[in-house]
Amino acid sequence: MTSTEQGRRKYDELADRYEEVFPYVADVGRQLITFAAPQPGWRVLDVGAGRGAVARAALDRGCVVTATDASQGMVARLAADFPDITARQMDAGRLDFPAGSFDLVTAGFVIQVLADPGMALAEAHRVLAPGGMLALSLEKQSVGRLRWLYELASEFFGIPVPDDDDENTGAMTAKKLTVLMTDAGFVDLTAEPVAMPVPLADASALWDWLAPRGLGDAVRSLPDERAEQFRDRFLAGAEDMDTGGGIKLDFQATLHKGLSAAPS
Ligand SMILES: C[S@@+](CC[C@H](N)C(=O)[O-])C[C@H]1O[C@@H](n2cnc3c(N)ncnc32)[C@H](O)[C@@H]1O
Repeated sequence: MTSTEQGRRKYDELADRYEEVFPYVADVGRQLITFAAPQPGWRVLDVGAGRGAVARAALDRGCVVTATDASQGMVARLAADFPDITARQMDAGRLDFPAGSFDLVTAGFVIQVLADPGMALAEAHRVLAPGGMLALSLEKQSVGRLRWLYELASEFFGIPVPDDDDENTGAMTAKKLTVLMTDAGFVDLTAEPVAMPVPLADASALWDWLAPRGLGDAVRSLPDERAEQFRDRFLAGAEDMDTGGGIKLDFQATLHKGLSAAPS
C-alpha cells in the first residue's frame, strides 16, 4: 500500500467522527476564513476539506465553494452535509480544474499531511486567478507541559521526544512553509499564530482524550505487565500535571496567506 493510500484509508475510517476527535478544527476553520476575509461571491476552493471546517465558514460568508478531498468518505459526508458546496474527490497535487478558476484557495491542516506539499502549492497557484489568495493553517507540534508523557512514550514505545525548536525533524514548520510558498510563486506572505487550548477535567479525562487517538492501541500492543506499568505511570504523571497547574492541552497553529503572482 502506498503512503497516499494509507492516508486515504485513515481519513476514510475517521470521516464520521473526524470533528469529534479533533474538535478545534471548526474554530480554526472559521479563524482561517476571517484571516483570508473573502468577499461574498468569491470562488473558493477548499483543498483537503475534511468535514468542511473551512469550506462551511466560506459558505457562511456568501462565497461560491468547491471542496475537494482525497478521501471518498470525507467527500460523501461533505456532499450529504452541505448541498450548497460542490464536493469532489481529488488529490491536492492534481487538481482537475482549469488555470485561474478560483479567487481563494484554502487548506486547513492539510499541508503537513501531504507527501508532496510543493506540488500541492504549485497546483493551488495554477488554479488561482492572478492576484488570487492562498490561505493555509498549519498545526505546530509542541511538547510543552506534556513533556512527562512524551518521555513516558519514549521509554515504553521507543518514540524520540520531539524538540519544539528543531527544524530538522522532517515535520513541516512555519519557516519551511514560507519557503515553499515563495518557491511556488506566492508573494506578500503574512502569518499569525492561533492558540487552541483544550482544558481537561482530570487524569482520566486525559486518558479518554488520548486513548482513541492512538495511545489505547499502543498500550494494548504491550505485554500485560508492561501495559499495567504504563497505566500506573500515566495516571501518576497526569495527577502531577493536574496538581501543578491543571491539565490543559495547548495545541498551537499558524495561519498563513499569500497572493498568487501572475507568471512572468
Ligand atoms: C487533518 S485533515 C483536515 C481537514 C479539514 N481541512 C479541517 O481543517 O478540518 C486533512 C485532510 O486532508 C485530506 N488529504 C490527505 N491527503 C490528501 C491529498 N493528497 N489530497 C487531498 N486531500 C488529502 C484528508 O483526507 C483529510 O480530510
